[in-house]
Amino acid sequence: MHYFDYKGSTLHAEGISIAELADDVGTPFYCYSNKTLTRHYTVFSEAFTGTDTLICYAIKANSNLAVVKTLADLGAGMDVVSEGELRRALAAKVNPKKIVFAGVGKTHDEMAYALKHGISSFNVESEPELFALNEVAQSLNVTARVALRINPDVDPKTHEKISTGKAENKFGIPFEAARDLYHRANNLNRLDVNGIHMHIGSQITDLSPFQDAFLLMRSLTLMLREDGFNITHLDLGGGLGVPYEDNREDPPHPNEYAQIVKNTVGDLDCQLMFEPGRLIAANSGILVAKVIYVKRGANKTFTIVDAAMNDLIRPTLYSAYHEILPVDKRLSETPHSITDVVGPICETGDYLAQNRLLPSFKSGNLIAVMTAGAYGAVQSDTYNSRLLVPEVMVADSAYSIIRPRQTYDDLLALDNLAQWQKN
Ligand code: LLP
Repeated sequence: MHYFDYKGSTLHAEGISIAELADDVGTPFYCYSNKTLTRHYTVFSEAFTGTDTLICYAIKANSNLAVVKTLADLGAGMDVVSEGELRRALAAKVNPKKIVFAGVGKTHDEMAYALKHGISSFNVESEPELFALNEVAQSLNVTARVALRINPDVDPKTHEKISTGKAENKFGIPFEAARDLYHRANNLNRLDVNGIHMHIGSQITDLSPFQDAFLLMRSLTLMLREDGFNITHLDLGGGLGVPYEDNREDPPHPNEYAQIVKNTVGDLDCQLMFEPGRLIAANSGILVAKVIYVKRGANKTFTIVDAAMNDLIRPTLYSAYHEILPVDKRLSETPHSITDVVGPICETGDYLAQNRLLPSFKSGNLIAVMTAGAYGAVQSDTYNSRLLVPEVMVADSAYSIIRPRQTYDDLLALDNLAQWQKN
């Protein structure tokens, strides 16, 4: 469910015409719908009404300050995985007591920065990290609140590159080793180890892996309580999938997910934390691009557009499907043909869609790459010395450029000649 729809023959983001926006800001650009972001956050949080929950939006999905601020203003906490993300959360005035810090490789400096700002808790992923955190907390004379991230060895049935809860993945502590490690952590006097964390993967469209993981969390909670631990919070991670392809995918509604949560860990009298990223941001954004050329190859047609794999890497990195719509709906009534939608980058992997049945585009036509609000702009780069594209947020009939297009001066200013070189 999102607020990108045709009005007349033109695709709109809420009350704003994408064609007019393209005239104003140029292409390519990302466009986000504030109302969609708000709706997704609200649907997720309402699924847990009456339960003690903290929803920490996974900033990595879309870390634009305006996006973070929109969610923070709705009461969201944040899940961060680096000092940079933490700084973004703080810049958007997120209450530090609502911030959790995850990731397998937090540095001493990052831990110190987070402790100085009094974040809610750390999700710790290994024994050496526990020792490091204890040391840093000691040096600052504070106590760190900790949940251990457990690797449940559950197959989330998603793309291998975004699966995190299997034994062969680098994440978390093996379930079998967990109990012992809680005991050892208990001897570290600057840590308050009172939580359990799990995150088994992303774009999960089947509830059974969640159920399996949450049941393991339940049994660990009971085991640790028997051992005298005061387990007060369970962080169930993110991962709930979204429909990228309307008629082929049907991910569970947050209410169904909430039912699984309640059935498995709902009676444990713990605060429940969640880290949804994609679910909040994916459908809230599109990437708008313009057709440069249509080229007939020996076997197929290539629709060459001005956005490329550096702007949206998901199709080539995860074989991800993103629906492509013409901004002018009248094109939908033209004859369709099979085409690859590709960018200008000098790589065969530079495509946004392959073998897709699409209208017969011409130079100058605008396309919208749908469901690009999560893991889109945040994973973009300047490969082939292409400029980072602008991000625009729409709310009703207003829009705001929430990240301007990079300029060539910005791009070149990132480098220096070596000190012995002259220009
Ligand atoms: N919590 C942790 C510890 C995570 O590692 C992640 C995502 C999330 C929460 C949020 O998961 P979500 O609710 O968004 O599924 N770049 C990939 C996705 C990578 C996800 C990484 N971790 C993609 O474009 O599909």
